[in-house]
Amino acid sequence: MPTDSPEKDNHTVYRKDYQPYPFSLDAVALDFELDETRTVVNSTLTFTSKDAAPADLVLNAEDITLDALHLNGQALAADTYTLSDTQLVIPQLSGSFKVQVRTVIDPSANSLFMGLYKSGSGFFTQCEAEGFRRITYFPDRPDVMSIYTVTLSGDKEKYPYLLSNGNLVSSQDLPDGRHQVVWHDPFHKPSYLFALVAGDFDIREKTVQTRNGRDVLLQIYSDKGSRDKTEWALASLERSLVWDEKRFGLELDLDRFMIVAVRDFNMGAMENKGLNIFNAGYVLADPDTATDANFSAVEAVIGHEYFHNWTGNRVTCRDWFQLSLKEGLTVFRDQEFTADMMAAGLDDQAAASARAVKRIDDVSVLRAGQFPEDAGPMAHPIRPDSYESIGNFYTATVYEKGAEVIRMQHTLLGEAGFRDGMDEYFRRHDGQAVTCDDFVNAMEYVYEKSHPQRDLSVFRRWYSQAGTPRVKVTMQHDASQHTVTLTLAQTTPLVGIEKIRKDFVKKPFHIPFAIGLLSANGQALALHEADADTQDQSKQQNGGEHTRLLELTAEQQSWTFTGIADKPVPSLLRNFSAPVIVQYDWTADELAVLAKSDPNPFARWEAGQALATREILGITQALKQGTSAGLSDVFVEVWKNNLLDAGLDAGYRARLLTLPSEKFLAEHMDPIEPVWLAKARHTVRESLGLAAASEWTGALQGNDTPGEYRPDPISAGRRSLKNLALSFLMAAGDQAACQQALQQYQAAHNMTDCMGALGAIVNYHHGDKRQEAIADFYEKWQHNPLVIDKWFALQATAADTRTDTIRGLMAHPAFSLRNPNRARSLIFQFCMNNAEGFHSEDGAGYRLWTEMVLALDSINPEVASRLARVMDNWARYTPASKSQMKSSLEQVRNHEGLSSNVSEIVSKALRI
Ligand code: TRP
Ligand code: ZN
Repeated sequence: MPTDSPEKDNHTVYRKDYQPYPFSLDAVALDFELDETRTVVNSTLTFTSKDAAPADLVLNAEDITLDALHLNGQALAADTYTLSDTQLVIPQLSGSFKVQVRTVIDPSANSLFMGLYKSGSGFFTQCEAEGFRRITYFPDRPDVMSIYTVTLSGDKEKYPYLLSNGNLVSSQDLPDGRHQVVWHDPFHKPSYLFALVAGDFDIREKTVQTRNGRDVLLQIYSDKGSRDKTEWALASLERSLVWDEKRFGLELDLDRFMIVAVRDFNMGAMENKGLNIFNAGYVLADPDTATDANFSAVEAVIGHEYFHNWTGNRVTCRDWFQLSLKEGLTVFRDQEFTADMMAAGLDDQAAASARAVKRIDDVSVLRAGQFPEDAGPMAHPIRPDSYESIGNFYTATVYEKGAEVIRMQHTLLGEAGFRDGMDEYFRRHDGQAVTCDDFVNAMEYVYEKSHPQRDLSVFRRWYSQAGTPRVKVTMQHDASQHTVTLTLAQTTPLVGIEKIRKDFVKKPFHIPFAIGLLSANGQALALHEADADTQDQSKQQNGGEHTRLLELTAEQQSWTFTGIADKPVPSLLRNFSAPVIVQYDWTADELAVLAKSDPNPFARWEAGQALATREILGITQALKQGTSAGLSDVFVEVWKNNLLDAGLDAGYRARLLTLPSEKFLAEHMDPIEPVWLAKARHTVRESLGLAAASEWTGALQGNDTPGEYRPDPISAGRRSLKNLALSFLMAAGDQAACQQALQQYQAAHNMTDCMGALGAIVNYHHGDKRQEAIADFYEKWQHNPLVIDKWFALQATAADTRTDTIRGLMAHPAFSLRNPNRARSLIFQFCMNNAEGFHSEDGAGYRLWTEMVLALDSINPEVASRLARVMDNWARYTPASKSQMKSSLEQVRNHEGLSSNVSEIVSKALRI
């Protein structure tokens, strides 16, 4: 039943309810006496009332007990304040006053890894989004910013390093083998950016100069014995500093910047001011233990957290609905950082191909994760209007679609205009907690100067409307006039909560849509628009006269181009200039033209993927009907052509030749039948391995990377093409390739080649060598947790793995549900990336999911609710699967004592 406010209940927080905090927090002094089970936290907060009228002082709390409370030095009587599990309220305060709070907490009992917790023998904190309230009573909201002074004391032998944000003020020894240090952070920050670390570590450090000649100390802290794995992280950090100075004019503002690696961590990494804390998997990397993908992930995440120092920390979010203000923008910045690093030192054409590789990878991530989210029960705009648990809104939409929305502004303003807009944003808001609107206002100020009569008012709808727009393109060629008219029409379905809101009307988006036209033999055609005033400008900004940026701002618009004698092939949404789905009826031959010769490397890849999607979906139907399923000539021809196109760099070629993922394919299937889809995808791989055996063998043999391992994109590209060839050939049962895989596994001098071979063996080798290799790998790497995570993940995602294998591995001594990386490597990998196993007809996958969500929920609800999301799109499966998935969801929802995190996910999933 549609209602006006479908979410009216006590747990929902609404964006429209925002109220400023009535006090400013002038200073924060924190004192930690660190102890494994009984850490004492003394906090002194100095407030000043913003208004003359008195107001209630509200401090947040979670899972802590109040030990002492003073107001202006006087102990407060119990009847002068109110205390609940989640709040401490001191009524009617005004003027300036000091509140002193003492809490006692037990870090060893903290399995949530939010607030202060133990990992290994050290102490760590995680405060974003609302973890600080698990340490002390505090206005734990991002718009309350303050200057922090932090005193830490603890056992000197166990915790020789005591770290917090900012600059080290003093350190001294205390009696009983303890010591004490004081840190001061000179910058205003919200509580979510607070951090402390205590423990014993290896350090790798370097002093570098900023562009203004200031010395800054960069340090990487990691587990004892792991220093030889932090070289890449430090080099990545240095590159990040240089890049942000060069591309955005942003300099490091502290004398010291620390990164600490930790084994127990809920997510990737955290941008605490001057003291980033990282999941060890995004810090440690050496050739023996890390793959090319790991090396690039380390560089990207180090960049991401470092770039937050300006986009997130110096300018932060007013409230958590504005999360994309910092995350979307910072993802955009880290994507550009990686692209610039990949293109560095290459000539123009090679640089364009390198940047396309990065774009392809980012768009693939968006389509696999964000598109389904935007069509499912959790669909939300990049700036949500409501949430129950903020932890559930660190989503692909806020991050990845948020980055696309920033990228579109970059496209509309151009590089120079975007940079001006960023400068304006910092000029206006440095040191403040602001909104997404504030960001667009700064961009719009610049946009309006160069685009008279235009504004970003339609564009802003990207912040308030959810769903992936469909852009239907039709092309009319007039052979007598030599004109081509392209008509673009957009529609966006109602999604998620929009569907049950009574009078929600969806309006058109402002969609920058880059296009080109090719002749039937693959020549790029010059684009002359019949009547355009903005033509020159958009040409310059978007890659010369062969690419044109159309701006669709209404439901439907047309553009006419002149001087085109024959019917051309349109190349659409070049570089994925907007996060939309394109609908156009290309023939297979037209797709082949694009896939072989579109000068835009992104669009060329896209056309090949479209062709392969048709092929695999066609074979899925054929298999289901039991008819014979051969590959089409045109598809094989395109793949062979691209295998042999020696002018292309290997990394780009590997993307061209990779089949669309099962997740991408599932988006094109209704209902989704994962078992048939996996079979069809395998059939295509097998047939293509056979049909192009000599070409694949050429790629396998021609892409060695002899000599010392280097993670650069050129050699990584060669390895990815070689390992792709290996998997196609092995899928086709090629004996020589089989031998080569076994030999490559033994001889590999880097983890990329080792895993490439092991993956091929585990997925395609059916002899006894398979178990041997699995056992050998464990034997060799059992003492390296990050490598053992790979070992679990590889088995979890192997084609023939079912729940019995997973349950067997859960009983392995190396498995633990309490370590998030380990839980993710086995359970999440199986449920998310092994569709065939997870959706097995008997429902065993769903039963495992139910058990694991509930087991994890009692340990760590933030992690559990990510696993819960696997069932989001349950309603899109066949009736038989659907009903089993639904009853699993109901079982979880009805479980007593379920966390609010998981409850939000499963009840929204069941509401559709
Ligand atoms: N702000 C972090 C980032 O994107 C991510 C983050 C948010 C996080 N909440 C967290 C990390 C909780 C660990 C735990 O860079
Ligand atoms: Zn971030």
